[in-house]
Amino acid sequence: MSSSTNGKAVPGSSQSDLAAAGPALMDSVPTEPEPVDPALIERAAQRLRAGALVAFPTETVYGLGADAGSEAAVAAIYSAKGRPRDHPLIVHVSGWMAAQYWIASDRDAYDRASRLARAFWPGPLSMVVPRRADAPAWACGGQSSVGLRCPSHPVAQALLRRFEALGGKGVAAPSANRFGRISPTRAEHVRDELAAADLLVLDGGASQVGLESTIVDLTRATPVLLRPGAVSAQQIGAVLGQPVTESGNIANPDRVDEQAPRVSGSLASHYAPATALQLAPTNAFEQTLAAAQARGKCVATLRLDGEDAGRYAQMLYARLRALDAQRADLILVESPPEEPQWAAVRDRLLRARTR
Ligand code: TXA
Ligand code: MG
Repeated sequence: MSSSTNGKAVPGSSQSDLAAAGPALMDSVPTEPEPVDPALIERAAQRLRAGALVAFPTETVYGLGADAGSEAAVAAIYSAKGRPRDHPLIVHVSGWMAAQYWIASDRDAYDRASRLARAFWPGPLSMVVPRRADAPAWACGGQSSVGLRCPSHPVAQALLRRFEALGGKGVAAPSANRFGRISPTRAEHVRDELAAADLLVLDGGASQVGLESTIVDLTRATPVLLRPGAVSAQQIGAVLGQPVTESGNIANPDRVDEQAPRVSGSLASHYAPATALQLAPTNAFEQTLAAAQARGKCVATLRLDGEDAGRYAQMLYARLRALDAQRADLILVESPPEEPQWAAVRDRLLRARTR
């Protein structure tokens, strides 16, 4: 993938060209996660137990965490993000043992969740399951279900384990961005997004996956994919021995899945930069660019350049942030391929585009 403004190419692979693109792109080159500092983890876990917010790295994107068992702490997330109260948050746990506190013992969903946890946890899969009646509902946006995720990032794991040792049951954590905006994949993105909030930000380097977790809804008769991510519908279906239905609005973000629980990531317009964003197929890209420039527009571009889907996903949000910062009139993005491994990238770009 490469990015440029008005045709000045900035290939992602060359250091000198990266430097020319400014610090935002330089910073987005993934690094090894920082070693886990036990004193900092202790401080962060204590803060969470005291009802304060902590932003932490996960392998997908950075999360804005609060004690899911505290009404006030969860309320602080909604106000820091500017997120509507009826949009449920994902509850993060250290593993399947901790997850069981939240799940109603509805045999079907429980069994399916346990099989998926064994196959994919810790990792980028969130599951929506029926919530146990006496588990706290503050994070669940008025639903009788709960979204559960077990992240693999070593800092997230250390934080969740320490938080649970202190008596916590789960950390509610949406992506650490303002509502509707691009999710952060580096600590400095979080600081840019939520500068005003009283917030401890744990730095765990660049997120390795780069796009939000896959969400599968296990509360219906058949599993339904609510949000595509690094774990594919095919992989989930193979573990469950049952095909996974795609929520109607994945294929067509303009359509509303009436039965789907409220998933803010499934809103037609989401994950959006402030600059207008348009997609153009490879064979019409140059023509579309020339037409926009002929109308006097300053256009920033993002091309595929033969990059594989995993690497493209890892870098996408950092690159969109860097392009957004250029204050062009338009970000023109080359449409990703139709292949299944590009499903999550396609989904996010379709929601990021301007309509
Ligand atoms: O990768 C991720 O999942 C990241 C990291 C931080 O873990 N988190 C994340 O959270 O993307 P958020 O809140 O930005 O997106 C979670 C999505 C939301 O669209 C929310 O509506 C949905 O999950 N969700 C959470 N609980 C749900 C429930 N009970 N029913 C339906 N959807 C739910
Ligand atoms: Mg989000």
